[in-house]
Amino acid sequence: MSSALQARLLTAALSAAALAAVALAVPTGQATAAQTLAAPDISVTNVKAHLTQLQSIATANSGNRAHGRAGYKASVDYVKAKLDAAGFTTTLQTFTSSGSTGYNVIADWPGGDTDNVIMAGAHLDSVTAGPGINDNGSGSAAILETALTVASSGYQPTKHLRFAWWGAEELGMIGSTYYVNNLSTANKAKIDGYLNFDMIGSPNPGYFVYDDDATIEAVFKDWFTAKGIATEIETEGDGRSDHAPFDDAGIPIGGLFSGADYIKTTAQAAKWGGTSGKAFDACYHASCDTSSNINDTALDNNSDAIANAIWTLSGTATTPPTGTSFENTTDVTIGDNSTAVESPITVTGVTGNAPTALAVAVDIKHTWRGDLVIDLVAPDSSTYRLKSSSSSDSADNVITTYTVNASTETANGTWKLRVQDVAAQDTGYIDSWKLTF
Ligand code: TRP
Ligand code: ZN
Ligand code: CA
Repeated sequence: MSSALQARLLTAALSAAALAAVALAVPTGQATAAQTLAAPDISVTNVKAHLTQLQSIATANSGNRAHGRAGYKASVDYVKAKLDAAGFTTTLQTFTSSGSTGYNVIADWPGGDTDNVIMAGAHLDSVTAGPGINDNGSGSAAILETALTVASSGYQPTKHLRFAWWGAEELGMIGSTYYVNNLSTANKAKIDGYLNFDMIGSPNPGYFVYDDDATIEAVFKDWFTAKGIATEIETEGDGRSDHAPFDDAGIPIGGLFSGADYIKTTAQAAKWGGTSGKAFDACYHASCDTSSNINDTALDNNSDAIANAIWTLSGTATTPPTGTSFENTTDVTIGDNSTAVESPITVTGVTGNAPTALAVAVDIKHTWRGDLVIDLVAPDSSTYRLKSSSSSDSADNVITTYTVNASTETANGTWKLRVQDVAAQDTGYIDSWKLTF
């Protein structure tokens, strides 16, 4: 009796706090729940500043930045110096093609789960005919500025981030093929996605999204849809850039493209603006692919879409290890002989369904547990009875772990512990409860 009174007083004292507190689901244990932060805006001014530098490099080196020419190595040095200064771990991978040394710049952002890598790449070489500012200074500059923004924002993704600038793409994807061929089977399997950006600032632009991997494609498309920009599937040639060797190796790929030598149709001009009957990039592989050969809006949109994809794809964990818990420690007063009360837990970052043995740890303080009916409510509102009432169950408190076969329920969403006190006099409160997947 005195313990019942104590509990009543305690309950009264706690109920005010419980009312004031916002229910908070706290993931516990070694694995943290997945978290996706919004990507920062990528400064198109900074992207264009990189293009100005690449143009200057070409101008100072016989007008191009082609494989085996001084302009290529100068481009490599420019990109690598920026990444080193920002804290990336960079590797200069060398190969030989057509009798000249070629270079890939690989930049790893320290941290994240190296068993789950999100990679973005762009070829840094031009053709010999010109400076290659849209093809492919644009992709190179956009991923460089994205990488620098990863560093300046202090982004700590769940997955590991890797950026790559490829050599000798214009000779047949030589650098990217060399990279993929030199990956071990284990290291290939660790790349969850490769995103390719080759020509993303075309002067008469279209918005093309690669359609190989459905998840990656959706991340890009959803971003453009939210901006009110129509997209089309990239069909100008599936094997025409550095995603091809990754695709061939079975790695999920995606990417963006604003068009090369194909002609913009009237339908495309109607939805994207620009000039129908004219190439997306009339200076493709020509000497006029200079820093004037860029549509700033396309470059800006595509740069922001790249950052969004990288943030989105790297911030979401794969299935957390078995044993990941989500807990709500906010007290909820259970009305005496009254309607049911609920305590929510929001589960995020768990792929697929809940397990066959979902552990539901309950800590309810009560002076006569026989009064209580306890249910687990799944995100879709289906309920699982954990405990029925019983007038003979005279013990106090319910501090136990129930095991529920929840394998038909989607794991992510808001789960609830529903508790009803169905008999007068004895009372209590939900102290805490926890779901372990
Ligand atoms: N660098 C590529 C090339 O010279 C450009 C290109 C053409 C492209 N069509 C493409 C890139 C389609 C990606 C997708 O061929
Ligand atoms: Zn290209
Ligand atoms: Ca009661």
